[in-house]
Amino acid sequence: MIRTLWYKNALIYCLSVDSFMDANGDGVGDFDGLARRLDYLHGLGVRALWLMPFQPSPRKDHGYDITDYYSVDPRYGTLGDFVEFTHGCKERGMRVLMDLVINHTSDQHPWFQASRSDPESPYRDWYIWSETKPKDAHKGMVFPGFQDATWDYDDEAKAWYFHRFFKFQPDLNYANPDVRAEIFRIIGFWIELGVSGFRMDAVPFIIAEDSPRAGEPELKYQMLRDFRAFAQWRNGECVMLAEANVPPKESLEYFGRDADRLHMMFNFPANRTHFYAHASGDASALKKALKDTRNRPETGQWCHFLRNHDELDLSNLTEEQMEATFAAFAPDPEMRLFDRGIRRRLAPMLRGDRRRVELANSVLMSLPGTPVIRYGDEIGMGDDLALPERESVRTAMQWDNAPNGGFTLNESSACPVIADGPYGYRHINVAEQRRDPDSLLNWTERLIRLRRETPEIGYGDFDIVRSPKDILALRYEWRGASVLIVHNFSDRPREITFGLDATGGTKRKLVDLLDGDHDDGDEAGRHTIVIEPYGYRWYRIGEMNDALERREA
Ligand code: GLC
Repeated sequence: MIRTLWYKNALIYCLSVDSFMDANGDGVGDFDGLARRLDYLHGLGVRALWLMPFQPSPRKDHGYDITDYYSVDPRYGTLGDFVEFTHGCKERGMRVLMDLVINHTSDQHPWFQASRSDPESPYRDWYIWSETKPKDAHKGMVFPGFQDATWDYDDEAKAWYFHRFFKFQPDLNYANPDVRAEIFRIIGFWIELGVSGFRMDAVPFIIAEDSPRAGEPELKYQMLRDFRAFAQWRNGECVMLAEANVPPKESLEYFGRDADRLHMMFNFPANRTHFYAHASGDASALKKALKDTRNRPETGQWCHFLRNHDELDLSNLTEEQMEATFAAFAPDPEMRLFDRGIRRRLAPMLRGDRRRVELANSVLMSLPGTPVIRYGDEIGMGDDLALPERESVRTAMQWDNAPNGGFTLNESSACPVIADGPYGYRHINVAEQRRDPDSLLNWTERLIRLRRETPEIGYGDFDIVRSPKDILALRYEWRGASVLIVHNFSDRPREITFGLDATGGTKRKLVDLLDGDHDDGDEAGRHTIVIEPYGYRWYRIGEMNDALERREA
């Protein structure tokens, strides 16, 4: 395959403009600030940014409640600033993905205002209304405990409207072709301004068969195909990345069996089982998740992640696995959310243990797909559980030890900053870690470089090498080159022995890509390696010079 699928070997970094960098001193992060940090991101090895919603919004759900799809929230800058930012990314070879929040709008959106106030309005049918209270009004809530219904009565409309998420997020009606046409317009608009991809929010709900909008069930997956086709007509390199926490089998429907729907999906099954592996020392469930999600079209790609802006969602683990993960990482009820998740950052969950933080990141970079990292995880930022709900993991980026962590020069930051304790900005910040060659930041940078120099992972086929349950050993092949990456989830050193089928008849050497500790194997081509507690090894199989691109298969 010609190597044009950029998203297969990219490193995606996700951030929220409001919490990253404030340039104009008003206490809120902005596009100008972000643009000034592009060299930092590029230096780290980031090749694509995923921005959380930045359009005008009352921000009752951190921007996932939009009031105008065609502009930038004035707190973050102007469309002009946005284009300067995308231009800056382009100059550095970095792509921009943005959140496409189209399952619902804010109830303050002029479309909803028109819809609720006038039954004759063309916008009436853009949302989902019922004259009577539907029987399932208290079913299907996404935020249990914070939301008690999916249908609410609107006094102005004198009718009930459907909202899968919070009450202030009325769902759009996709059975209406005008709504679909408007979404194309939105996609086309941002592509013209320099966007190369969209992280489609809440996809299963947009196409849900059990939603009251499902007047035309055949629309279900066809819509995904149409979105992709439209985006690619406008910009051939544009990708669609689905937030769709669905069972592995169903995911094929999102990719499209003919590779004609969404290009990428977040791998939620791997995410939750990965955390279970850290909690229990047992990687079997993670291995199973990787096998279950192996099947995807050739141009399809999984995105792997550790933490994101939401809770760590443990639903679909077995009860026992969930209990073990909660016990290890969220013993305190205030660390949990919606009965299914954990509202903490990675580093505090792993008690700041550098070995375990490295292990988690090394696993992330080695999973079959494209890694997505969250701002601040490269320096091991913490969380603030005093903040409500998911805000605990959305605090300001910690740049240095100046007041407010260098995020803003304004005395009062609009975005909460972690000041105290071991994760406060005086201890954890970019400036300090940049000076220290052994810091997590510099280690992460080296790991990202290694991942980018190992395109077998993003492009190739993988095998799970047979090993004990606390070991995850993944082997990749691509264009005649191969790598083997081994992880030890246990708190004890482990010795493992395995054979490498010596294709081509030669004895196959393991070349350590991190510290030069190579292994020649025995006469029979068997290797025995000792791996320290929470250790990891990245090997190229063969000679060092068997680098990629040399042997065109
Ligand atoms: C997605 C987002 C989440 C948001 C929800 C509603 O799940 O990741 O943050 O609250 O959609 O838009």
